[in-house]
Amino acid sequence: MYNFNFKNPVKIIFGKGEIAKIKQEIPKDKTILLTYGGGSIFKNGVYDQVKAATQEMNVIEFGGIEPNPSYETLMKAVSIVKDKKVDFLLAVGGGSVLDGTKFIAAAALYKGDDPWDICAKSNEVSVTEALPIGAVLTLPATGSEMNGSAVVTRAETEEKLAFGSPVVMPQFSVLDPEVIFSLPDRQVANGVVDAFVHVMEQYLTFPVNSPIQDRFAESILITLIEEGPKVLANRKDYEAAANFMWSATLALNGLIGVGVPQDWGTHLIGHELTAYHGIDHARTLAVVLPGMMDIRRKEKQDKILQYGERIWNITDGSVNERIDETIERTIAFFESVGIKTNLSDYDVPKETIDRILTRFEERGFKFGEKGDIGPVEIKAILTQRY
Ligand code: NZQ
Ligand code: ZN
Repeated sequence: MYNFNFKNPVKIIFGKGEIAKIKQEIPKDKTILLTYGGGSIFKNGVYDQVKAATQEMNVIEFGGIEPNPSYETLMKAVSIVKDKKVDFLLAVGGGSVLDGTKFIAAAALYKGDDPWDICAKSNEVSVTEALPIGAVLTLPATGSEMNGSAVVTRAETEEKLAFGSPVVMPQFSVLDPEVIFSLPDRQVANGVVDAFVHVMEQYLTFPVNSPIQDRFAESILITLIEEGPKVLANRKDYEAAANFMWSATLALNGLIGVGVPQDWGTHLIGHELTAYHGIDHARTLAVVLPGMMDIRRKEKQDKILQYGERIWNITDGSVNERIDETIERTIAFFESVGIKTNLSDYDVPKETIDRILTRFEERGFKFGEKGDIGPVEIKAILTQRY
């Protein structure tokens, strides 16, 4: 196992009825910006619960944060924060609202010339200050509620880029599984697959003798495989909703990734598919991951075999046959929750591959658990997915 530091200060307030507790978490003297998305919170009662909990507080509202939150929209919120001297951000929504709010929190205090550099130059710019954030999560998927990462899209340049800093970790996040009752199938499926692939990015690399991290990771995968379909079949199954929600948080709160190599190549390639074609984040992952497993079967061999055996009970056949079957079972799982896994399913033209390659050539860095995925590998991975 590698050396590591681990600190996760996010307070999780979990369970039905717990949105009321935000009253105790935000100091009364704060000017709060309540951020939300396209309006789902008005239809499912979440907004009413948040309003009831904050009725004695000074709250300004900012709605309209899109799925794949846009820099352009978020900068409007930054202006409001500065004008109204907002000193607390309350994000109420899915990963996009939470990520967008993290960007607002950082951009509002950013001292450089261009706040887009927070994302565009994330390797050079270190975000050391941000407004405090609280969150009410309405969609289990991204883990944003318990981590310091955010992904922002710039519509003007068709870029989707991430940044991360401990200072944008929420002070608290409320996880009430009843928010899942109003989720459409599409978003439940997205959440299951996104969380699943978060685990894979931190698990499906190469062995470093880390049985605790491996078994934590495997337990999350198995729970998603068991509970995801239950949530899809019956949105009012509170126990399944609770288990799904907690799985998604644990998939990306840092714990399973400590002391082990991490990949994140599937995400980096997937973000380009969203940037160019607006494909839902999780769907891009379901497309790319099988290609990643296939093209990187030598580098990932030991962990693919372990995953195949422990998650899908695949023990017979040659190494290549077992890997093929493991990839097939993974694809079948994604398809079983309603997510298509081929680029042609999303009408992505072949020219997109060249656009993505050019972009990575310009950026000039390689990625993956061994830092060796570059344009040649990306081309092979994407070509395999038609
Ligand atoms: O905008 P509203 O009206 O709220 O509707 C949303 C949106 O249309 C709807 N929704 C959310 N909660 C609902 C609901 N509808 C009914 N009932 C509810 N309870 O769902 C739609 C999608 O929401 P969104 O927030 O975009 O989805 P998700 O949580 O999957 O977030 C995706 C974003 O997170 C980023 C992705 O790249 C993408 O931009 N990620 C963030 C990560 C992180 N911070 O660590 C890691 C991930 O890998 C991911 O990259
Ligand atoms: Zn993801």
